[in-house]
Formats: sequence, structure tokens, C-alpha cells
Amino acid sequence: MKLKSSLLMLMLSMGIFAQDKSEFIYASLEAQHASELKASHPELIDIITTHNDVTIAHLHPEAAHELHQKILSHGPGYLMHPSKEAAINKIKNVKEQSRTVLQFTIDQQAFVRQVLDEVSQSNIEEVMLALEAFGTRYHTSVQANQSAEYVKQTWENIIALYGRENDVSVRLVNHNNTPMKSVVVTINGTQTPNEYVIIGGHLDSTVGGWDKSFAPGSDDDASGIATITEALRVLLANNFQPNRTVEIMAYAAEEIGLVGSNEIATSYRNQNKNVVAFVQFDMTNFKGSSQDVYLATDSFINNALNLYLIELMEEYNSSGHHQFTYGTTRCNYGCSDHYSWAVNNFPAAFPFEASFDDSNMNIHTSYDTFELIGDASHSVKFAKLAIEFLVETAKHTGTLSASNISSSKNQFYLNHKTLGFELASVQKITSASILNVAGQKVMSRFHLNSKDQLDLNSLSQGGYILILETQDGQKITHKFVLK
Ligand code: BES
Ligand code: ZN
Repeated sequence: MKLKSSLLMLMLSMGIFAQDKSEFIYASLEAQHASELKASHPELIDIITTHNDVTIAHLHPEAAHELHQKILSHGPGYLMHPSKEAAINKIKNVKEQSRTVLQFTIDQQAFVRQVLDEVSQSNIEEVMLALEAFGTRYHTSVQANQSAEYVKQTWENIIALYGRENDVSVRLVNHNNTPMKSVVVTINGTQTPNEYVIIGGHLDSTVGGWDKSFAPGSDDDASGIATITEALRVLLANNFQPNRTVEIMAYAAEEIGLVGSNEIATSYRNQNKNVVAFVQFDMTNFKGSSQDVYLATDSFINNALNLYLIELMEEYNSSGHHQFTYGTTRCNYGCSDHYSWAVNNFPAAFPFEASFDDSNMNIHTSYDTFELIGDASHSVKFAKLAIEFLVETAKHTGTLSASNISSSKNQFYLNHKTLGFELASVQKITSASILNVAGQKVMSRFHLNSKDQLDLNSLSQGGYILILETQDGQKITHKFVLK
């Protein structure tokens, strides 16, 4: 590494790269990385424009290499684009916030509480082991499409078991840039079928080097496919009938550049499908950090959706149905399929197994096996989060409908920089905390009344979540965005 940089410095001082820009590539990268690079190696980078923390730049390939080596421990650190126009179009497309996400509510507690305990760790383990048993799921291998058939069959079996052939279907999706197929299950929405709520993971696996014959890809990402499969099973076992259409996707060829998800998300955009939210499950089974769930906070992630996932975890923590702790982390580039949805302008989030630095080191090697982890207890948490997300965003219209538990008449209002609230039960509030989208506590107040106000003048614009703790230990959450 050292040697490489000094060689680069030497070449720089000799002016070797200074003139010739014919080799430069158009790339998008984190704004901070771009400005660091500009400061250290001005000859290697021309900054074109910056939008929402993403910079479009004209990069010398050696600069790209430097970025990859120095800034990141994995992945390219930038995304290449064919032309300046294509690059600019992509980032201009990424919206800051989505109104729809801000309006997501939590009122399906009766249904969710009833089903959370049904998540089965052994079911998750079974799917992980079955996927690993293909030996490899590298996108060009024969086994890749055999694993797609296996997932299709597994999902069809679940549909048949609970008698849902009429409104739930599975399809294989062919792609242009890989021979591997993606698998998609659709639960038809009963009220607004053109509104989609989608979760996904990737089915392919990879291993470094040219020999792709043994790539077990257990954590990366059999764990995600097993997680979403169990979420599907629990929902159908409980006669879940969503207002919005719910889809669950197992993507082809993520490992070679998000190919399957990119083709699907682009076609949804072109068909004007209204995807109200997407959540990716890629690597859910290695607990490498102290907290349970780490939300990615990269610039293209939808802040409001992250806040909503926090709100969901808090809701079902305070009801005692689980106790999940959470933190935030950054991949620093589009490291998984959620990026494909984000660049197509759909709100996307990525809850992850650990902080990226402490995540499973065995991925992309022959050691990414279930055996080395031993059980699927960590994945169980993600299956529960997936269920909470799907039920509360798509809403349930089946037999057990609208919750009578919450009938939460708590009122919140935001007036300039004052947040007022009035709680339904007359209880003292022991503490009020406000977290930003990076999960950091930016304000705390103690001993408030059930009807009270908070002065938010010290906060800058952005998304926040308010957590009120009442005297009896109950937590009430409310998300808001300051303009
Ligand atoms: N599951 C990984 C992404 C990942 C790895 C996230 C480690 C956090 C920590 C994913 O399957 C992957 O390998 N992605 C590629 C990027 C893609 C654009 C080819 C990567 O990270 O190199
Ligand atoms: Zn991977």
C-alpha cells in the first residue's frame, strides 16, 4: 500500500498524469471522498457537480484505484457511468425525502403482535442449508438457476400449504445481462394494487479468484433469502391480505454489479409502478457488533424510511415482543440491491447484521458457511423486522383487522421549530429523546407533562425521531422532518 502511494506520488510529481484525460472515467462517489481526493491529488479528479452528498467526477483510473484501496475495505468506492450526462441524470434522480414514507403509520399491532412469535429459527436454518448445498450459486453456474428453481418451489409450497393460489403467485424473471433468473413472489393488494411494498435479498454467491466452484454464500446472502422466506411463510400462515401489493424478491447476479435488481427496478420505474418502499436483506446472520440491527445511512438511503424502521423496532420493543438494539453504519457506495431501487428514485433502506467494519469477514470465501456461525438466531430478528415493515406499510385487510389496542389518540404537531404533543393517557413523561437519522441522540429532556412542547431551535433541518418514555416504562415514538 505504502509503496503504491509513493509510486503514485512520484508519477504525479513527474507530471505523468497531468495532461492526458483520454483515460478518465465518469463516476459518482461520496462527496466527502471526492473532496479528499481533490485535496490530495488534484490532477487525478475533476469535480463536475454535487447533489445530496453524491459527487459526479471525471476520474483518472489510478485515482479510482487509490479510492478503492485507501478509503474502502471492500467494493469499488465509486460507480462508473458511460457518460457525463448519464452520470448527472442518475444522481439528480435521487430524491431527498418521500412524502409517502413520512405518512407511514403504526396501527396493526393486534396482527403483528399475534404473529411475531411464530417466526421459526429452524425454518430459516433449513433454507440457508439448502442454498449452501448447491455448492455455488455463482450467476453463470448451472447451480445458480437450480437454486432459483428451489426458491420458486419453496415459495409455491408455502402458497399451496395455506391455500393462497388465488391471490399469491411466483414468477421467474429473465435478465439481459446474466443467464441467472431472479425469483419474485407477489401478494396482490386488495385496495391499491399499483402501490408496492417490496423486500429483497440476493440469491447468487461468489468467491474470490477464478474458481467459482465452491461459493457457499451462507451469510452472503442465503441468510437474507431465508429471512424473507420465513417472513412470507408467517404472513401467509396468518391469512395476511395487504391493501397494497407486497412483493418479495430473490435477485440474480448481485455480486457482479447488482444486475438482477437493477433490471427489475428500472423496469418498475419505466412501467410507472409506484414502489412506496423497498428494504434489502443482505447478510442477516452474523452478529459482529454490540447492537442487533445496523441501518445503513449512505446518502442514497431514504432517511424517513430509516426513521420508520427505528419506530417499528421501538414499538415492538416497548410492547415486549422483542428487545432489538440498533445502530447505524455506512457502506460508502451502492454495496447491495437497495441501491438499484434508490437510483430509480424509490425510497430504499438496508438494515444490516453489524456495523460494516465488524461484519462477517468470511464472505466471498469458501468459509462463508452456516457451520461457522452455528445457528440462525440473528436472522430471526430481521425476519421479525421484515414482518413488521410489510404489515404496517402494506396494511392488513384480512380477518383480524384494524387494531383495537393502539387506537392511539396521541397528538403531535410541528409549528416552525416547536414540537407539541398531547398524549391520550394522562401520564408523566420521564424522558424525551430526539435521535437524528444517524441514530445519535441530539436532544434529551426530563420530566415533561402529557401535554407539553419541545423547543427545536437547536436542530438543523433533517429527519428525526422523538422517543417519549412514560412513568410506567412505555415508549411512544413520533418521527418528523424539519424543513
Ligand atoms: N453483501 C455484500 C455487501 C456488503 C459486504 C455489505 C460487506 C457490507 C459489508 C454484497 O453481496 C457485495 O458483495 N457487494 C459488492 C458490490 C456490488 C456492487 C458488486 C461489494 O461490496 O463488493
Ligand atoms: Zn457479496
